[in-house]
Amino acid sequence: MAERLEGLKRTHMCGVLREKNIGEKAVVMGWVQRKRNLGGLVFVDLRDRTGIVQAVFGEKIDKAAFEKVNSVRSEYVLAISGEVVKRSSPNKDMDTGMIEILGKSIKILSESETPPIYIKEGLDAAEGIRLKYRYLDLRRPDLQRNLIVRHRTAKVIRDFMDENGFLEIETPMLTKSTPEGARDYLVPSRVFPGKFYALPQSPQLFKQLLMVSGFDKYFQIVRCFRDEDLRANRQPEFTQVDMEMSFVDVDDVIELNERLLKRVFKKILDIDLQIPFKRITYKEAMERFGTDKPDARFKMELVNLNDIVGNSEFKVFKDAIKSGGDVRAINAEGCASFGRKELDRLTDFVKTFGAKGLVWISLKNGEIKSTASKFLSTDIMNGIIERTQAKDGDLILIVAGKPKVVFASLGQLRLEVAKKLELLKDNKEFKFMWVTEFPLLEYSEEEQRYVAVHHPFTAPMDEDIDYIESDPGKVRAKAYDIVLNGEELGGGSIRIHDTKLQERVFKALGFTNESAWERFGFLLEAFKFGPPPHGGLAYGFDRMIMFLVNADNIRDVIAFPKNKDAVCIMTNAPSNVDEEQLKELGIEIAKDHKK
Ligand code: AMO
Repeated sequence: MAERLEGLKRTHMCGVLREKNIGEKAVVMGWVQRKRNLGGLVFVDLRDRTGIVQAVFGEKIDKAAFEKVNSVRSEYVLAISGEVVKRSSPNKDMDTGMIEILGKSIKILSESETPPIYIKEGLDAAEGIRLKYRYLDLRRPDLQRNLIVRHRTAKVIRDFMDENGFLEIETPMLTKSTPEGARDYLVPSRVFPGKFYALPQSPQLFKQLLMVSGFDKYFQIVRCFRDEDLRANRQPEFTQVDMEMSFVDVDDVIELNERLLKRVFKKILDIDLQIPFKRITYKEAMERFGTDKPDARFKMELVNLNDIVGNSEFKVFKDAIKSGGDVRAINAEGCASFGRKELDRLTDFVKTFGAKGLVWISLKNGEIKSTASKFLSTDIMNGIIERTQAKDGDLILIVAGKPKVVFASLGQLRLEVAKKLELLKDNKEFKFMWVTEFPLLEYSEEEQRYVAVHHPFTAPMDEDIDYIESDPGKVRAKAYDIVLNGEELGGGSIRIHDTKLQERVFKALGFTNESAWERFGFLLEAFKFGPPPHGGLAYGFDRMIMFLVNADNIRDVIAFPKNKDAVCIMTNAPSNVDEEQLKELGIEIAKDHKK
């Protein structure tokens, strides 16, 4: 039976009671974490979002309450009234462990069936059941803490942006597709059957239009939607901290964001980040780390062996270089003891990134062993050892091939070896880095044309504008990513505000004048009326929270996330809809789509 409050008021949250409260009358309300019956005394741990407090019931404390507490079970909702007293046997592991409540009366506000998951800090039940009963999963203190940090971080950001003259302005959710490169989620129009809105992949075009309107500094903590393959740090709907500002260049955006991140890490984790952060160009990031998202918490950087092995007789190296490719290596320090099995595994690993194979050289007990020892002269072998700075006990891992493949293989291999060596296991460091000067365009073999690396409105670097027509792949962009421990936390760019330049970029992207106008006409039209120079950036807010709470999976920082198939197991979305609803929208499901 569910009792009513009948005017009873909560006086304290469970987790806040301390020794200073001893002697006070308290009314606490919450869920039963557990009940222990020790003969004459019954102990109830009551939990709310602030923590757990122990209440004790006994015949001598209050007979009626003592009798009533017998029917209480885990996850019942109680109101407990009593006196805060010093505990005879303190529990140092609990924040409230110095006190307890002498239970004078008890109300059972709600009963509970035995929950399908055990509600406990750090519990790791199967993902499916956790998501199905998400509201129970969310009773876990760790998930509650994550969402509290999420709330506090949003507040810190809002305060900071407000202090710096930014206005939070909402942009539409029902809109036209924006060019962020993933698939859109579409919403059919009832009024115009056959036409669709798109849910925004980001507010990109609207924030640029707000600059045309003269808002000068805009930000928004905003939901974005992308229909793409999901990973541990990706959800179909996710949140961005999105911003745009006028009359700025790259340095201004970077400087403001360094201060913002410094503020967030100070307020949330009490960590003093050293700013400015390191900046490296895209080119340098690729050459040193094989990726545009370097994890700089450990070294094992890539080195180029082209000049050393260019003249070798080893066909694998010779052919790679002759066809415009590279030969690069990493030195896995202390890994000479890796066995055959492990080396085979690493070879298969690089093959998944397109490498044809992995050449290794091990330096063990003064002996040099290698898959390629037959083909490499002593001079070349010594050259490689010197270049990689390998010493006894080390393992040199070499990949030859197209630059893209070599970078991807060694970049990932570097992380794989670090994982194997547990280099990052207890590393709580936050290594921020700006990656700048991304290429503006990249040739897509699939589409047989150049595509925008960031998006089509990103400005080229002033000194590279002349290459747009003659050598599009050479043009660097005023684009920057903020990378933290090997993850892309956010990215942005200075935008093109000159219609003529925008047309040249569209042309390089293979748009005709008509197709550009059809897709982005409203932006091009707006740019006829005095667009200021502008630029901005967006963070993945969920990813930011993952770092702040040390979560491995994005689902742990979102209240109601989707599973890896973009399904909400709890509500069963997406789901079928009534024939009637479809008819109204003029939609018929193709027969071969019906499952
Ligand atoms: P971009 O596409 O790089 O830039 O997105 C910005 C940041 O959003 C996060 N992010 C995601 N987080 C979770 N799930 C996803 N599916 C997902 N996709 C992206 C990443 C990423 O760095 N309009 C531009 C920004 C700008 O130029 O100002 C944009 O959206 O952390």
